[in-house]
Amino acid sequence: FFFQAEDGIRDSSVTGVQTCALPIYPYLLANQAAQKLTEITKVSSHDVLVVLGSGWTPAADALGKTDFEINVDLLPGFSPPAVAGHSGKLRSTKIGNKQVLIQMGRTHYYEGKGVDSVVHAVRTAISHGVKTVILTNACGGLHLEWKPGTPVLIKDHINLTGATPLKGAKFIDLSEVYSKNLREIAKTIDPDLQEGVYVQFHGPQYETPAEVLMAKKIGGDMVGMSTSLEAIAAREKGAQVLGISLVTNPGAGLTNEKLNHEEVLAAGLASATRMGELLKKVIEKI
Ligand code: HPA
Repeated sequence: FFFQAEDGIRDSSVTGVQTCALPIYPYLLANQAAQKLTEITKVSSHDVLVVLGSGWTPAADALGKTDFEINVDLLPGFSPPAVAGHSGKLRSTKIGNKQVLIQMGRTHYYEGKGVDSVVHAVRTAISHGVKTVILTNACGGLHLEWKPGTPVLIKDHINLTGATPLKGAKFIDLSEVYSKNLREIAKTIDPDLQEGVYVQFHGPQYETPAEVLMAKKIGGDMVGMSTSLEAIAAREKGAQVLGISLVTNPGAGLTNEKLNHEEVLAAGLASATRMGELLKKVIEKI
């Protein structure tokens, strides 16, 4: 679908006909999903979106009392996720004076459903009023002292997917994708929190040892398969972003250990309550 550009930009200069310059259907779909969310739940807006990554789902229970929980496929544009450990639900919880939408189970770029599916929840939440997006994930750590179960604040990312959620020539500034202010708030809660650069690979295969070394050489501290596209989509719409990676394993080849998804989930499960409490305290302070 191609419609007139959302910001009223029309490119009639070339053809003389008012053609549609940019594909905006995904933005309309997100607006529709936000409307439907209000219809179904009677909650008219949210303040914060929390995206729970692999293994983080159990952290949702530590965030507080559930006001509602729905399957994502009730809303336009969402599809149930295919990955174990991603339950495909949206939950709403009140934390302090903030109404918090919790996405349990994201769509990953490697699923092949396209970048608009990957960022649909972020766009929907922002259309529903969200100004703060908290993105969590499981990652491979590139520093051996970061043992499985260590949370790391994302201070920047390197997007190796070759993809972007932006449509057309939108030159948005990414000099502070992950809000310094929110990172500082998180550090007032846990002064031991480290910061690192997250390198997003396409996946779903884990990296080769050579790719892990490359990620380190180009300035990375963590490797993973999510987050950066969602962060870009949030910045496009002006939401502030906090990113937290949970180290679940050393990057491939850094030890003799082989990687598997079950171990990633288990490491997440072991830290989930602690991560939930960290998230809750951060949200109380935003
Ligand atoms: N690589 C990519 N994604 C991951 C990893 C990893 O080592 N661990 C958890 N998610």
